[in-house]
Amino acid sequence: MENRSQWGTRAGFILAAVGSAVGLGNIWRFPSVAYENGGGAFFIPYLIALLTAGIPILIMEFTMGHKYRGSAPLTFRRVNKKAEFIGWWGVLVAFVISTYYSVIVAWAMSYSVFSFKLNWGSDTGAFFGDYTQSVVEPGQFGSFVPGVLIPLVIVWIIILGILFKGVKKGIEIANRIMIPLLLVVFLLIVIRAVTLPGALDGLEAFFKPEFSKIMKGEVWVAAYGQIFFSMSIAFAIMITYSSYLPKKSDITNNAFITGFGNSSFELLAGIGVFSVLGFMASQQGVSVGEVVDGGVGLAFVVFPAIINEFPALNELFGFLFFFSLVLAGLTSLMSISETYISGLIDKFNISRGKAVAFGGGLAAVISIIYSTQGGLFFLDAADYFINHFGVAMLGLVEVVLIAWILRKVGELKEHANGVSDIRVGAWWTISLGVITPIILGYMMFDLLKQNLTRAFDTPTGNYEGYSDLFILYGGWAVAGAALVIGILISVMKWKKSTNTNEEQMKEAK
Ligand code: ALA
Repeated sequence: MENRSQWGTRAGFILAAVGSAVGLGNIWRFPSVAYENGGGAFFIPYLIALLTAGIPILIMEFTMGHKYRGSAPLTFRRVNKKAEFIGWWGVLVAFVISTYYSVIVAWAMSYSVFSFKLNWGSDTGAFFGDYTQSVVEPGQFGSFVPGVLIPLVIVWIIILGILFKGVKKGIEIANRIMIPLLLVVFLLIVIRAVTLPGALDGLEAFFKPEFSKIMKGEVWVAAYGQIFFSMSIAFAIMITYSSYLPKKSDITNNAFITGFGNSSFELLAGIGVFSVLGFMASQQGVSVGEVVDGGVGLAFVVFPAIINEFPALNELFGFLFFFSLVLAGLTSLMSISETYISGLIDKFNISRGKAVAFGGGLAAVISIIYSTQGGLFFLDAADYFINHFGVAMLGLVEVVLIAWILRKVGELKEHANGVSDIRVGAWWTISLGVITPIILGYMMFDLLKQNLTRAFDTPTGNYEGYSDLFILYGGWAVAGAALVIGILISVMKWKKSTNTNEEQMKEAK
């Protein structure tokens, strides 16, 4: 029997899974995605995506990892030899995400330090531009930005150090410390936020449904995309984490705890963020819509401006906010990176140390691209394309493969029900076999059509109006490379033949 790493306790696994799920996606992405897509009305597609795709796929990935006990590539190979490339595709998508995710954590680290003196001044937008030195055209690199590069190196030293220590002594201990700390810090921020003057206006903007928006396809794309990214599903993570579970472990209950834990945190983040936006709007005498900004801007431009306006303890709350981003980001980044560490160990039969040095080292080196003056544009393009044509596409391929091509839902259901307190039934089968493939299939088709036809529209028809050439190498090529390199690695020979033979597979069952 192989000597596979294991979690020390059930709580350790749950904390690590929640730590993976709760990340920049919850604090940095969710509030603005929800607002841009109809505020309260967004909850309907969000809840449907959570209940028919998020939790069912999470249970599926937990079951696969637990049953086949391998990294994502090994798990898919054990499901069916020809499916190994899907595992590598997921690993490569995670690899790409880790290269820019680490940079956002690095920004948050810098901003935690800036908080002590509110260094961003009154023009926070100009400050962010100065900090990232985005003075070049999209597609150009320019020179390195030391202010980003230095924290980036620190982020990688922390992550690789934890991964080097292993699953139980590294990842589990780190999550045991960081997740409770994150919860305390974040609760403090949210309590302060909802008690600020004007908070109610912000909450109204967040919760007031705009039903006209709910019929738009893109709102559903955003909801599914948010659920996948936020729950860390469809990019190899949860398969890897659950492969370290002992044989006697509950699956379904753990998946519900992780899924609902993540969504509760997301909701909390939304409440906190919109309360302070309401406060900001009331200070400036404008509507909440006028102070909201998407993605990067919300956390690194709007927030510092709001912190300036806080009635008291501005520096402390600034620090707590950016520190919570750092904690949430680090616990997710370690899970994203563990996918390729685990894949390399399994396939090439190398030690954890070597896998961390090679896989993690390579990701760290590539991440330097995003610490250049043109980094912000590369990050934006890679993030959009890898999320839509990496994560969401992979989610679709995964469910179609398991439910329709290999017809494994019944077998997986039996396995999950055999070890779990909660039994899954028709809801799970129908969600994976019918609802998710139809909704996600339609969405992906529409999205592909939109992005492919965009290029033929006006010169600014591309995503964010980027040039065709930049979209090609900064977006399509990045998402395409994850698939192509995944296929190439999957045809390479396994160095650990015992890992893939039939007997081992039976034992794994
Ligand atoms: N699940 C992680 C996040 O939400 C990747 O940021």
